[in-house]
Amino acid sequence: MSLKTLLSLAMLLALCLPVQAAERAGPPLTIVVPFAAGGPTDALGRALAAAMADSLDRKVVVRNVDGAGGTVGAERVAKAGPDGNTLLLSNIGHATSMWLYTALRYHPVDDFAPIGMVAEVPMTLVAKPGLKAATVEEFKALVRTEGNRLSIANAGVGSASYLCGLLLMDMLRTELTSVPYRGTKPAVMDVMNGHVDLLCDQTTHTLPLIRSARLKVLGVSAKARTAELPQVPTLDEAGLAGFDLTVWHGLYAPKGTPPETVAALVAGLREALASPSLTAAFASRGARPASPGDAQPDALQAQLASEVQRWGEILRKAAIYVE
Ligand code: MLT
Repeated sequence: MSLKTLLSLAMLLALCLPVQAAERAGPPLTIVVPFAAGGPTDALGRALAAAMADSLDRKVVVRNVDGAGGTVGAERVAKAGPDGNTLLLSNIGHATSMWLYTALRYHPVDDFAPIGMVAEVPMTLVAKPGLKAATVEEFKALVRTEGNRLSIANAGVGSASYLCGLLLMDMLRTELTSVPYRGTKPAVMDVMNGHVDLLCDQTTHTLPLIRSARLKVLGVSAKARTAELPQVPTLDEAGLAGFDLTVWHGLYAPKGTPPETVAALVAGLREALASPSLTAAFASRGARPASPGDAQPDALQAQLASEVQRWGEILRKAAIYVE
């Protein structure tokens, strides 16, 4: 290569560098996860952030804003600037908060611009290794003798783990002692260590702990068995007829985000969900990425609306209210 060509290349590089630096220096996209770090929603959020950093070609960070069953993080995003720089990754619990919290300072539907569905994840009812029950039938017998001396952990009122526990207690016609945490990461630690008896949590979180026998598994919450745990019965088939709960996750921007910004985020989400790295990360933990048809605003809007209605009927009957 001649000296002249080398100099021209060096000049070209010098011209390009400031442009790239300026692009990277732009504000990062923050995905707010409204539960503790290390839990199932956080794990999905981090896999999604890595894939969206590639699809959007920008820095994407996860921020855990936990507390009050996910409502602290949701409020943070509802009140963030509608500039496409702050998003909320939340689960089924987002559809329940308006029925449970009397002093909610945001509206879970009206204050958000949906981006799209992200994933569906079955749950597993797990117990401390020393629980004196290995099957749902044995557990039912234990409930009859122990009643509310048995404790069940959750990620706060309205979270997915809370809803699963609520359905369980409703079917067993019993009250277990509810122990709230800021996410299921700290909850699962206390169950593994025997401080709490039970937890119903997303398979993304429990799978490795079940496989290594650090948790005892009683059943899968969805209507069908999960391919990652083929030997584990569903709660429905094991003696809790009709039990059927799958956690769904959605991505939201604050209301008022410009349509072209939403469209760019939708494109980024859909490309991320199709990427081999994200597909592998989700599959290894039993999470199903949303289809292209579901990874878009209308599908998430419809899902949220129907789940708000479904849980409204269940929760109004249960008459549980928190400030
Ligand atoms: C839930 O129970 O809603 C989630 O599993 C909480 C979490 O991701 O930590």
